[in-house]
Amino acid sequence: MRIGVIGAGGIGGTIGTLWAKAGHEVFFSSRNPEKLSELVTGENTQAGTVAEAAKFADVILLSCYYSTIDDAISAAGSLDRKILIDATNPYLREDDKIHRVPDASSGLELAAKLPNAKVVKAYNTLPTATFANEAHRSEPYALFYCGDDAEAKAIVAQLITDSGFAGVDTGNLTQVIHQEPGGVLYNHPMSATSAQRLLPSLR
Ligand SMILES: NC(=O)c1ccc[n+]([C@@H]2O[C@H](COP(=O)([O-])OP(=O)(O)OC[C@H]3O[C@@H](n4cnc5c(N)ncnc54)[C@H](OP(=O)(O)O)[C@@H]3O)[C@@H](O)[C@H]2O)c1
Repeated sequence: MRIGVIGAGGIGGTIGTLWAKAGHEVFFSSRNPEKLSELVTGENTQAGTVAEAAKFADVILLSCYYSTIDDAISAAGSLDRKILIDATNPYLREDDKIHRVPDASSGLELAAKLPNAKVVKAYNTLPTATFANEAHRSEPYALFYCGDDAEAKAIVAQLITDSGFAGVDTGNLTQVIHQEPGGVLYNHPMSATSAQRLLPSLR
């Protein structure tokens, strides 16, 4: 796949690198692309502006801070018909402290802002260190995803497998409440078998 990473920091850089190692073409982006040279490691990786990454890609990983989502999607240009994987979580930094935004869902808000994009919530439930150190375990960790477009979800499920995790479909985008901060699936590493046991209680 041709994948654009918007927000190539800890999480975006790590996931993009896993996809590049699996053979996908990954375009990392930044407001200062010259900072991304460490991520450009082979023929299938490149770096540029947010707009260039969005134009290049069929699938976009959005992995910037919640407070910068509007800026990032505005810099991207049209995201119509693109598959948009939302890895963001609704936290804000104030007075050097990070706090959860009550009653916010970055996934639902993003889908409302971009009705013509195919938003799939994924890659937000585990910390960067787990993605960096625990990919391709013999019993892979579950990685939850949800969305309203079946074809987009099938593509994201394959990308999850390729990055060394076990995709677990939690349903349509309204199920995002279980995956985002405060939800039972957020920040609880578990096997796909344990995850499948848990899911019926959420529906
Ligand atoms: N940290 C985790 O363990 C973790 C796990 C799951 C999900 N998440 C979520 O992933 C997101 C990123 O977290 P992180 O830890 O990876 O943060 P990070 O390392 O600080 O990376 C944030 C990235 O956002 C980009 N950015 C900032 N302002 C931007 C703008 N106006 N337009 C476009 N890009 C912008 C920055 O790129 P430039 O400055 O180069 O432009 C930076 O690379 C957050 O929403 C977080 O909740 C984090």
